[in-house]
Amino acid sequence: MIETPDAIQNVPALLAAHGPGLGKNLMVWCCASSRGHKPYTLAMVLNDFSRTCSKFDFSVLATDISSRVLDIAIKGVYDAGEIDPVPMELRKKYLLKNKDKTKRLVRIVPEAIRKVRLQHLNLMDPDFGIHRKMDIIFCRNVIIYFDRETTEKLLVKLCDQLIPGGFIFMGHSELLDCTMLPLISLAPAIYQKVNR
Ligand SMILES: C[S@@+](CC[C@H](N)C(=O)[O-])C[C@H]1O[C@@H](n2cnc3c(N)ncnc32)[C@H](O)[C@@H]1O
Repeated sequence: MIETPDAIQNVPALLAAHGPGLGKNLMVWCCASSRGHKPYTLAMVLNDFSRTCSKFDFSVLATDISSRVLDIAIKGVYDAGEIDPVPMELRKKYLLKNKDKTKRLVRIVPEAIRKVRLQHLNLMDPDFGIHRKMDIIFCRNVIIYFDRETTEKLLVKLCDQLIPGGFIFMGHSELLDCTMLPLISLAPAIYQKVNR
């Protein structure tokens, strides 16, 4: 199922309220992006935002350990049933229906595809090999696979990869203990990096 925009739809408002120091060329990283739902939904929402804000631009880096899901994401083609949570105004602009109606497939438009770079990355690697710092990191529904020590080490590395003032979005049930991290809680599952 395509990611319900919920938190993603709040990104423009979050940037306006809490992100004045963030770059005009916003870098967003979805670090366990699976089949591509979240990065493409983000590309749709941020592309809409860029139309209202002339100097704003963005790039989305989407990574996953699984080549199988990355291959699906690269195609950008989904079953029509998967897009139900996407609001109609975004569907009209960013999803193309298959000409063959029997197939019930939709394709992400090239304008959104171009904004998303997909790449293989194992979050357990000691060095992510990503040279640019990120403004926003989505790390949702993946720490559930890791034990506490592994999660703590990963969160330190993710914070290092984030600019001061940048945001981390976790899954709704993935509440972080910020005492040992340079993060404050802004809203449920949304954290901002601070200087500590
Ligand atoms: C439950 S899915 C979550 C997908 C998406 N973040 C979401 O919230 O819908 C978990 C994803 O984490 C990926 N994953 C698991 N271990 C990983 C690792 N060590 N490095 C990178 N990705 C990993 C899996 O391949 C899978 O695509």
